[in-house]
Amino acid sequence: MRKQVIAGNWKMNKVLNEAEQFVQAAKNEVPGEEQVESVVCAPFPFLHSLIKETEGTPLKVGAQNMHFEESGAFTGEVSPVMLKDLGVSYVVLGHSERRELFGETDEDVNKKVHAAFKHDLTPIVCVGETLEQRENNETMNHVEAQVKKALEGLSDEQVQQVIIAYEPIWAIGTGKTSSAEDANEVCSHIRNVVKEFSSETAAEAVRIQYGGSVKPANVDELLGQSDIDGALVGGASLEADSFLKLVEAGK
Ligand code: G3H
Repeated sequence: MRKQVIAGNWKMNKVLNEAEQFVQAAKNEVPGEEQVESVVCAPFPFLHSLIKETEGTPLKVGAQNMHFEESGAFTGEVSPVMLKDLGVSYVVLGHSERRELFGETDEDVNKKVHAAFKHDLTPIVCVGETLEQRENNETMNHVEAQVKKALEGLSDEQVQQVIIAYEPIWAIGTGKTSSAEDANEVCSHIRNVVKEFSSETAAEAVRIQYGGSVKPANVDELLGQSDIDGALVGGASLEADSFLKLVEAGK
């Protein structure tokens, strides 16, 4: 039985005080780690404070991106070593906004996934199709190629620990959610890709989240699907009340 993982991705929102208030309200209200994994992926400047604030609680803190190099002349970048040193547990990699707005390639994502494992960070690897690709029936092929490239060179044991977030780009921040059945069909395809690519054990173990306008009103139906093991949530993760409802649904 795979444990659900509910991750809030705050994107470029909040100031420190608001972030601290959120975790103060949520840290002792989220269910125990044995029931569901609860994560907030916060902007870099808040990580240090939020990790201190959540120490010893079931609420975990993640980053939204990182560079694949450990250090060096990469002005403005943040390394996996820095994240690990702070106590970060998860890192979102290859979000469609990183790919579309900042030119991240499948190859970059693959390097970052390897760097995450090297530094004991759990990668949340995002994949998903554009509206045009969906309309041209290219969803499955596109997502399959993204997954294979992201996981290239990983051991079977590492693949088992990856979290894949399937996020149809047309559903992100638009209020349009994929139907639960359509989302499950793609997640099920991803699981088959993992099976062929790595092993049946890996396919059974890998967690596949859905992301794209998830909210308290639709989360139960999405999480009730056979191949959806959690959610990566933007807008509806910004308020503690709403985030707690989503986490509760993951129990
Ligand atoms: O990482 C989160 C996704 O981009 C979904 O964002 O829940 O605001 O649609 P959203």
